Amino acid sequence: MKVSIIGSGAVGSTTAFSLAKTDYIDELSLVDLDQKRAKGNALDILHGLSLSHAVKINYGDYEQTANSDIIVITVGVPEKVGESRLVPLQRNATILQAIIPKITHYSPKGIILMVSNPVDILTYFAYKISGWPAQRVIGLGTMLDTARLNWLLSRDYGVAQTAVHGLIIGEHGDSQVVAWSQTSVAGTQFDTYVAGNKLTLATDYKATIAQQVKDTAFDVWKMKGPNAFCVALAIERVIQAIVRDEQAILPVSRPASKEGDCYISQPAVIGRQGAVRTVPLQLTSSEQAQFTSSLQAVETVAAQIEL
Ligand code: 2OP
Repeated sequence: MKVSIIGSGAVGSTTAFSLAKTDYIDELSLVDLDQKRAKGNALDILHGLSLSHAVKINYGDYEQTANSDIIVITVGVPEKVGESRLVPLQRNATILQAIIPKITHYSPKGIILMVSNPVDILTYFAYKISGWPAQRVIGLGTMLDTARLNWLLSRDYGVAQTAVHGLIIGEHGDSQVVAWSQTSVAGTQFDTYVAGNKLTLATDYKATIAQQVKDTAFDVWKMKGPNAFCVALAIERVIQAIVRDEQAILPVSRPASKEGDCYISQPAVIGRQGAVRTVPLQLTSSEQAQFTSSLQAVETVAAQIEL
């Protein structure tokens, strides 16, 4: 199982380290415009493998990525603190035009996992440029937002993060939607859990949590620079679902409803063939309306970019 990581910055290098410690990856290939940086990260991990376990690590140019099963794209011009993720879009689209053909040339049967922002739009562009079926071009989507929601609810209700199953859909960005109707704590739908435990929530509790999920990434950014650990864990989770053919249901970015549609984050079944189908949700009418409006926001911006 070979994974290539394009971009060796904070996210790419942390992902490489995290994947090198799994038992299901045989080979990693690190690519960066700054080849010295990719080499430095590869050597940093290679130096420690006698303390861990064997994994092959390459670095260099795109030819090193040949026959990758999964290609993780982390390159791009990042957004600035407080700035919409939509801002650096045109520059990132141009970068994709240069790198996607190299990726598809060297790994014609691979699966692309897009991490760069704005992730929904960039995954859609990668899909269009690659010409690959949509199931093999996946965006990290709202994996991070959903994990952050789980963390906040676990904090508030004093249960393990794994006992919370939140769901955020829509854009990985400002217009995202917390699907409270699909969110459960200790196996019980959120509102039922609150009522059953006779909890009194502030009237703006849900709105506050929804805002905190959005803000928390930027809070971390202000403290330490780019989020990397949480991102690497989210990437690893998707890759594990692919490699182990789990049919896991994860909120990733994929076509809104059919092949060719703009990408948006929704729960999808993920396994060795990629993100094979979207899981239909019984959303409330308000959640459905917010999701539709989030999709429209992403579509409107995507339409303004020339590919
Ligand atoms: C994140 O949510 C910045 O999209 C990145 O951490």
